[in-house]
Amino acid sequence: MSYDPALAALAERSIRLITELQTPEGAYPASPTFSAYVGYSWLRDGAFIADGASAAGQVESASRFFDWCAAVTVRRAEKIRWIVDESRAGRPPGPEHMLPARFTFAGDDGADEWWDFQLDGYGTWLWALVEHLERHGLDGSRYREAAQLTAEYLLVSWWRPCYDWWEEHSQHVHVSTLACIAAGLEAIARAGLVDDDTARAIGDETARLRRLVAERGTKDGHLIKWFGSTAVDGSLAAAIAPLGFTDAASDVARRTIDVLEAHLVVDGGVHRYLGDTFFGGGQWPLLSCFLGLAHLAAGDRDRADELLQYAAATATPELDLPEQVPGHLIAPGMRQEWIDRWGPVATPLLWSHAMFLRLGIALGRIDPAVLAPQTTAQEETLA
Ligand code: BGC
Repeated sequence: MSYDPALAALAERSIRLITELQTPEGAYPASPTFSAYVGYSWLRDGAFIADGASAAGQVESASRFFDWCAAVTVRRAEKIRWIVDESRAGRPPGPEHMLPARFTFAGDDGADEWWDFQLDGYGTWLWALVEHLERHGLDGSRYREAAQLTAEYLLVSWWRPCYDWWEEHSQHVHVSTLACIAAGLEAIARAGLVDDDTARAIGDETARLRRLVAERGTKDGHLIKWFGSTAVDGSLAAAIAPLGFTDAASDVARRTIDVLEAHLVVDGGVHRYLGDTFFGGGQWPLLSCFLGLAHLAAGDRDRADELLQYAAATATPELDLPEQVPGHLIAPGMRQEWIDRWGPVATPLLWSHAMFLRLGIALGRIDPAVLAPQTTAQEETLA
């Protein structure tokens, strides 16, 4: 497949937003302007943003984000050891004592109330770190302490119900959360970033996790939103690609993609799940990109390309990609309520830009060279 010149400007804009909004501490803000997100960096968003930046050749930017993740983790070493000890003693601490989903740029816990107990980001940052190290042939030894701590935290907690990618439904065990955790743990064991005992424990626990997903996280041959559900969730595409938790050539992957297409996709736009009411339950361009990556891994380049074009077309005239678009709403009556509460939909959302880059580069539609650090002449032209 050849580069698509029509996508070059959006690709440049995407990488600029990601690198220029990265904070001096290395954090990636979720969105610079959206009221509820200002001042915070999420491990989930950040890990996928770093993965997009890494794929686009922004090696230093991605490394700085992982350094930030490592610092955030190591600062909490004592707390993590307490959580691990208590959990091993059969007294898993309550959700309010677990690690948060998002941090201030300085690496502190937020002062605002949030749906903080989410485990997926702790797996995803480990997964994205190893992808980055392997992609660019980097030495990962400076991440060992943070990887070890994060692994120990996940090994004692992975089975616990917690909030999902959408910071909802904390009473359930979510299959995409488990996919993130397993992908992260398996990656650091493979990369030798943990000690031998931990690597063995990772082998045992991820085998258990995979068995549980097969028994309770799969229905009618496809992955499901949470244990006991019959529905799917847009985030499940990530289990197939880029996480590679579910083999893209498997029947489960095929069936999961088919059900996602049948239940959640309207004209290339992907809903998070049936029943979504957030901002009226619109379509998320980043989910079109995840589904595109899953299709590509499963061998359907044409469908992946259509999904990329759909995501690109959601950009505003300023070339900002939003969190969601309202073309097809699941709960139109709920849209205004959210606008009144939090203002217009988060735009730009850095995670959307990162997923557009990630799929565009994987498809060969975006030339990573156009994204290399700018020369002065290019800077002037783009200004
Ligand atoms: C989404 C999360 C995301 C956060 C920051 C929330 O509305 O549900 O997935 O991490 O926004 O972008």
